[in-house]
Amino acid sequence: MDKLIIRGGNRLSGTIPISGAKNSALTLIPCALLTEEPLTLRNLPRLADIDGFQHLMNQFGVTTAVQGSRPEDFGRVMTLEAPRITSNVAPYDLVRKMRASILVLGPLLARTGEATVSLPGGCAIGNRPIDLHLKVLEAFGAEIELAAGYVKAIAPEGGLPGGEYDFPVVSVGATENALMAAVLAKGTSKLFNAAREPEIVDLCKLLVAMGAEIEGIGSSDLAIHGVKRLHGATYRVMADRIEAGSYACAAAITGGDVLLEGARADEMGATLHALRNIGIDVTEEKTGVRVAANGPLKPANLTTAPYPGLATDMQAQLMSLLTVADGTSVLTETIFENRFMHVPELSRMGADISVSGRTAIVKGVKQLTGAAVMATDLRASMSLAIAALAAEGQSEIRRIYHLDRGYERLEEKLQLVGADIERVGDD
Ligand code: UD1
Repeated sequence: MDKLIIRGGNRLSGTIPISGAKNSALTLIPCALLTEEPLTLRNLPRLADIDGFQHLMNQFGVTTAVQGSRPEDFGRVMTLEAPRITSNVAPYDLVRKMRASILVLGPLLARTGEATVSLPGGCAIGNRPIDLHLKVLEAFGAEIELAAGYVKAIAPEGGLPGGEYDFPVVSVGATENALMAAVLAKGTSKLFNAAREPEIVDLCKLLVAMGAEIEGIGSSDLAIHGVKRLHGATYRVMADRIEAGSYACAAAITGGDVLLEGARADEMGATLHALRNIGIDVTEEKTGVRVAANGPLKPANLTTAPYPGLATDMQAQLMSLLTVADGTSVLTETIFENRFMHVPELSRMGADISVSGRTAIVKGVKQLTGAAVMATDLRASMSLAIAALAAEGQSEIRRIYHLDRGYERLEEKLQLVGADIERVGDD
């Protein structure tokens, strides 16, 4: 297994191209199940999770063709075509590797009247149940059966009638499944307290480009008027706001000055607000967002929340940055109950962090030191890379398959701005 070797201390400076958003791509790809016509997605990131999802789509009889991907380019174009769905079963072996597989439930149900998907199982960052995915589909008229580790959703004869659902907590995944199920329902469906993350807006925009009728896009109340059929489309995946935020933290912790090319400030509000509070200069430029660190980092009190609040996917990276701030910071995680797995590893690099329940107290230290570390999830792994960039000496980041799931060619992008980082085979 590969690992990353990072020798800290280099100030990052230059331009990092931001890739297409993983979390958006993983909900745009299953939209191909909703139409017989081709769906072409541009700016898809080259990531292990996208390859996995492509494989899952092939399982249902969807053909996929990838074009225009020179090795030196970031991103790629994929055309997916599903004239006929040959299977509506998502088997355990594919689902267990990728939680996002649950996102095929809504569109398969909408297109074929039935879908069987393996339960995704536990996850390192908490229990992550799918009860809300099932409840909203039930509210739209589906019958749900659970047996032998699988969930089966069945629509009545003639298709889903549609219905109304008020989410008790904001769920990104359940909102996505609901949208993809409702667009082909017979009637109008309404969602209240729906997630309104930019990735949900991206999904709505694609569905509208395919002929869906959705009101309230960008708000937490959505009305979806079902249509008989959707058509093909060509669509560009939004920029990855979490990748951009991660590199912003990397630049900041090294005292650097980096242009995040393609990043959209309007989709990164809470992260940029947090960075400014920490003392980072953030400027919106024509081609992206520039972050520059001039002077000491200030401590901050940060709490994750559904959008437009601070993304849980940014918590670990911001924590790394705050380990070297000039004072004590408090970070509270409200979305997942077990999302501080980076803390023991950051402590091994010299950080002073104590955790009590969902709150972490971070006392800034003068200097982190390099160490061999490993993490158990994607964003936690990125937080270790960020810390390593500022640490004295060499760090080794192991289990980088987590990073490969969510960061397109991380080491190449960091090399572009002067980081001393290399990928080596594990011994
Ligand atoms: C969540 C994050 C998303 C992030 C992703 C990966 C939020 C609101 N969502 O999305 O920003 O990109 O993780 O880290 O910040 N829940 C249930 N039942 C369900 C579904 C969810 O109780 O059926 C709970 C979850 O346990 C969690 C909360 O709802 O506490 C939000 O989960 P959800 O948004 O569905 O998770 P993801 O879609 O994975």
